[in-house]
Amino acid sequence: MRRGSVVQLVAIGAVCGAGAALVALLIPWLPHAASRQAGRIDFVFWFVTAICIAIFALVAAVIIYSVFKFRAQPGEDADGPPIHGNTGLEIAWTAVPAALVTAISIVSAVVLAKNEHIPHASAASSDRLTPLVVNVTAQQFAWSFQYPGFGKLTSATLKLPIDTTTKLQITSLDVTHSFWVPQFSQKMDAVPGSITTLVITPDRAGTFPVICTELCGLGHAVMRSTAEVMSSQRFISWAKGQQKALGSSSAGASGKAVFANNGCAACHTFTPAAAKGKVGPDLDKLADEAQRAGKPLQQFIRESIVDPNKYIEPGFPKGIMPTTFSSLPKAQLDALVSYLAGGKQ
Ligand code: CUA
Repeated sequence: MRRGSVVQLVAIGAVCGAGAALVALLIPWLPHAASRQAGRIDFVFWFVTAICIAIFALVAAVIIYSVFKFRAQPGEDADGPPIHGNTGLEIAWTAVPAALVTAISIVSAVVLAKNEHIPHASAASSDRLTPLVVNVTAQQFAWSFQYPGFGKLTSATLKLPIDTTTKLQITSLDVTHSFWVPQFSQKMDAVPGSITTLVITPDRAGTFPVICTELCGLGHAVMRSTAEVMSSQRFISWAKGQQKALGSSSAGASGKAVFANNGCAACHTFTPAAAKGKVGPDLDKLADEAQRAGKPLQQFIRESIVDPNKYIEPGFPKGIMPTTFSSLPKAQLDALVSYLAGGKQ
């Protein structure tokens, strides 16, 4: 092979490789990672991408070079001479891909093992955050997050302390859903009757969407929540404040806190809570709705929370409101009913 040909091949390969690298780097293909696991997954993505760009540059260089160099001349219609075997080349094109695929497997296996690793609570760190366990329950069409380390605290949004390894224990009450926060890069199915786990160590504060990424019915597209990553001090004070407001004590629960905590505002309009949801009936008109249902106001509200399909307001579909709220502790349910009734009976 002449030296000039090698230079030409390398030049074409460099141009093609640079073009592919620009496409890879200039377009924001991945969300901005917000967890250590996502950072590792991004590393695997870029590792594989770099290998692909190198192979693309090599193949493109050979093809483009051959198209011009070995083009048949006008009037020339004979096939080229038959070529049989080139042991060195064959060994190279078998060994190099084998080595690359092995490297990708090893890197992926290491990342997978690290991403699933949960550090054991050391004696020194006896706080409730190592690791933090959150029970995630999916139900058509809402998420609910429960913190077993903090009493019966439940929340409609996922609050997470930064730099803390969190183990999500995910399940579903009806059909298969799937938990996904794009910035955390991981997805995990929520399967009725079993518990799946996902380990997340958030490393960037902020608010990120929680998305159901498994077609689960009519409300699949609106089955969203948010994940909020905050400092551990803020997380602890949020958790303690919620425990207090939700009244695990006899001091009485705050209806407003129960309303906010269970994500009612996502679907309902209710002026005292500045809620503007449009998915479900307007809670400012509960008195009219109770009259249509033919029930006393407070009884109607209570029934609509624990057994939402008993009465369906005209114009709204059946089976959209989750039935999870029937498991609200009594103090919280009482507080929520009187808050929604606005003092009326
Ligand atoms: Cu739940 Cu889609």
